[in-house]
Amino acid sequence: MARHLITSALPYINGIKHLGNMVGSMLPADVYGRYLRQRGHEVLYICATDEHGTPAELAAKDAGQSVDAYCGEQHDAQKAIYDGFHLQFDHFGRSSSQQNVELTQHFARKLHENGFIEERAIRQVYSIADERFLPDRYIVGTCPHCGYDKARGDQCENCTRVLDPTDLIDARSAISGSSDLEVRETKHLFLLQSKLQGEVEQWIDDNSEEWPTLASSIARKWLTEGLHDRAITRDLDWGVPVPADVWPELAAEGKVFYVWFDAPIEYIASTKEWADADPAHRDWKSWWYEADDVRYTEFMAKDNVPFHSVMFPATELGTREPWKKVDFLKAFNWLTYYGGKFSTSQRRGIFTDAALELLPADYWRYFLIANAPESDDTSFTWELFSSSVNKDLADTLGNFVNRVLSFSRKRFGDEVPAGAAAGEAETKLGEQIAELLAEYEGHMEALQFRKAAAALRALWSAGNSYLEEKAPWLEIKTDQEAAALTLRTAMNLIHLYAIVSEPFIPAAAKAMRGAFALDGDTAAWVTAEEARALASVPAGTAFTVPPVLFAKITEDDLESYRERFGAAE
Ligand code: MF3
Ligand code: ZN
Repeated sequence: MARHLITSALPYINGIKHLGNMVGSMLPADVYGRYLRQRGHEVLYICATDEHGTPAELAAKDAGQSVDAYCGEQHDAQKAIYDGFHLQFDHFGRSSSQQNVELTQHFARKLHENGFIEERAIRQVYSIADERFLPDRYIVGTCPHCGYDKARGDQCENCTRVLDPTDLIDARSAISGSSDLEVRETKHLFLLQSKLQGEVEQWIDDNSEEWPTLASSIARKWLTEGLHDRAITRDLDWGVPVPADVWPELAAEGKVFYVWFDAPIEYIASTKEWADADPAHRDWKSWWYEADDVRYTEFMAKDNVPFHSVMFPATELGTREPWKKVDFLKAFNWLTYYGGKFSTSQRRGIFTDAALELLPADYWRYFLIANAPESDDTSFTWELFSSSVNKDLADTLGNFVNRVLSFSRKRFGDEVPAGAAAGEAETKLGEQIAELLAEYEGHMEALQFRKAAAALRALWSAGNSYLEEKAPWLEIKTDQEAAALTLRTAMNLIHLYAIVSEPFIPAAAKAMRGAFALDGDTAAWVTAEEARALASVPAGTAFTVPPVLFAKITEDDLESYRERFGAAE
């Protein structure tokens, strides 16, 4: 049994995330982690909020709070939602933790010792009114090419041309609107990634073979364009300070590390936060340092791939220390809302808090993973969502469970009936279930989530076909024993569904499993023999009928969702 380290891209702190963020990182990581745990592997699933950078500072300012207080509140708010989605993090940390300060500074020191960090003077726009240097995107003005008057210092949104802030006509601060700006010279630390190009290329050659094409092709593209040296410090009040023992001058000026430098290091630091909470039993270093027995899988949307496939590995390699590097990088395309972008700033689409107010987590978990944007973008529509919920969850699974258990209770009472010995139909069913189960396992192991969901659906459907074929409601009229066999077999299917559906729909899985009064290790996965035999729940086992697992989404519901959230572009 391998040790599995899993991380999902750290959600940014500035506000509640939307379903697109969820499906591209945390949710598939959780599904995969749950599956591996059920298969008996040791799993550590680590995440955190990404709390540094200008957007955090500005969001706090908008909220009229100190950055510190704002981040604390937002962290807790996000954590509560992820609990609601039943995400089983081993730890959900904060990139502003003391552990991350220390590790980030350690990384910088090592990179410096090895000649990969250089101090360079650059010219930057300073706002006298704001008493601060302005990042390019916080300078606005008129585009010299097309005359658009809200062009940003890095790019004109109207004509898409890349700009330098000094190109802008009538430049002003996006924070205060002041045009009292001047260009000042200031020193920053640069990470000499160009020196690491060859090594990173070699590492990608040796390690990316089994990554999804989406991930490896983005990594290759960045390498082809060449790794450029990159400023890794900023003039902000909030962030990991540059260590004064190495760079006294920059530290005195209050420089902090750039958010993209400290954020991936938080994967390690969050693991340390986890271990520091119970040091007698937890060892963070064994997961990250000389951790050759660990398999490390990362989950993220495609815009994060360059940082994780190229830049963070370059940082790790440059320390000349044996830090664990990613083994498998699972990347996702975009989830769109009726073909358009989900947008946090414009609050377009469905946000995770609103989703949970509408329906329980299982509905969203199943829909999102079954339609994950793996090989292409997925367009969320309420129509697709409701048909998927109604057909797969309510009809195929929920109805099967309810029908079988209610009917059996009505005819045979509160215990699984004995009935005749298994016959040909049961042997055939067992073969089919074992085959589908192997398929499901194969897709899960390959992190092919849509295919795994299809195999899971096929397992549910097989139960329905069996039930239709045997028709116990007819059998019972002529042959009680035959009807009892059918129901006992169907109940064994429910028990199997409880186990194999758990990564997708943990709450429903719990209800299905809880229907049977079984003791012993109910957490174990199903073996192929057990799948063939369909006899884990013996005759005489007491059972209850759980409440309806999935309610159907009605036309009226649909109408109200469309109205509340807007549909079509
Ligand atoms: N906060 C970033 C985003 O939302 C992701 C950071 S991932 C990490 O795109 F590796 F840097 F932590
Ligand atoms: Zn323009």
